[in-house]
Amino acid sequence: MIQIELSHAGKLELAPYAEKVAQIDACIKNKTGAGNDFLGWADYAETYDKEEFSRIQKAGRYIREHFDALVVCGIGGSYLGARAAIEALNGLLPANTKRPEIVFMGQSFAPSYVKPLLNYLKDKKFAVNVISKSGTTTETAVIFRLLRDLLLEQAHGDASAIQKSIYATTDAHKGALLTLCRKYGYETFVLPDDIGGRYSVMTAVGTLPMAASGIDVAAFMEGFGRGEKEFSNPNLSENPAYQYAVARYLLHEKRGYPVELFVTYEPRFVQLGEWWKQLFGESEGKDGKGLLPDSATFTTDLHSLGQFVQQGNKVLFETVLKIKEPCCDVVIPEDKDNLDGLNYLSGKTLSYVSEQAMEGTIKAHEEVGGVPNLILSLEKMDAEHLGNLMYFFMRACAMSAYLLGVNPFNQPGVEVYKKNMFTLLGKPGY
Ligand code: PA5
Repeated sequence: MIQIELSHAGKLELAPYAEKVAQIDACIKNKTGAGNDFLGWADYAETYDKEEFSRIQKAGRYIREHFDALVVCGIGGSYLGARAAIEALNGLLPANTKRPEIVFMGQSFAPSYVKPLLNYLKDKKFAVNVISKSGTTTETAVIFRLLRDLLLEQAHGDASAIQKSIYATTDAHKGALLTLCRKYGYETFVLPDDIGGRYSVMTAVGTLPMAASGIDVAAFMEGFGRGEKEFSNPNLSENPAYQYAVARYLLHEKRGYPVELFVTYEPRFVQLGEWWKQLFGESEGKDGKGLLPDSATFTTDLHSLGQFVQQGNKVLFETVLKIKEPCCDVVIPEDKDNLDGLNYLSGKTLSYVSEQAMEGTIKAHEEVGGVPNLILSLEKMDAEHLGNLMYFFMRACAMSAYLLGVNPFNQPGVEVYKKNMFTLLGKPGY
């Protein structure tokens, strides 16, 4: 069970919100709140299509065995969860020989990003997992066109030869991507109607890239399912996800903090921070409301943002993710000259040093800097625990948005830039 420590955040009186939380929880369960047709993620662990899940595992195995690289082509909720999971669980080094390299595209138009990657893929045996619920997102669609062209070029124009190189995750019934896949016979997976992008990591959107990268997706689903049991408890005093939601609501609405900084201590969690930012930012930031979600990796960013957090404008509180059991460790050696003066650390592990840095930072930020800290502790980081953590955040996010009085599941603001871009590009109808 994920634990939450509220004692480093000053006085937070959660109990008066117990009834409101129970009411919102009933709204989530009975699907009666705003955006109620997008609650398919909440009980997904019970309802998901087991036959499709086997196909996901099979396709993941096939990609692992037959390709040097997999390009995951998607943007926003259609890529962030997969990337967060793959980096958090597999690390940041290039793939070993047992799994294909995972490359992320479709999230940027920048030619400086796209061109070198297309060149890089030219001589590689690669597959593509194109992910788009709408099937019409311009970033994804443009890059998919380029990738498909490259595959065709590699296959000397033989469309049937690239059939097993393309996998699409999209709507079950409609959209340009689905039409294209049906025409050319590409295997498709479904992002269900009642699940939006940023709540979709446990569907094929996240699990196919994860499976291809060698992650145990059955364990991920197990942790996600455990999350449903643990974090759908309507009793605020027993539910850490709802305690987190109320604590951040109080820090924002009652104590006036406009920014929440999500802090981790491992570079492999940078993308988890990106996923977390999208989840909360897109779910809450509407009607002139919401906390600005930001993220940082300590101790790295203590040497950049640390000064601001300690002594700068008091705009933020921190949410710190602690992982209790390190995935591996390194012992600091003894040195007979001790010219660097580090022998006081000889025999100690890097995880021990990192833990002391964390404790020291929390104390410095809270006690000296006056920055409230919410601490979330996870036993360890593996597929099961990550699935559990992601459910924790999704449930907390739905609760947080409802507490603020906004619909957690829409993103009407995202359309504004698209409309302007389409007009400028001369898209028919704009
Ligand atoms: O969370 C969301 O709903 C969005 O971030 C979408 O995932 C993103 O805009 C991509 O949309 P689509 O999957 O339709 O290409």
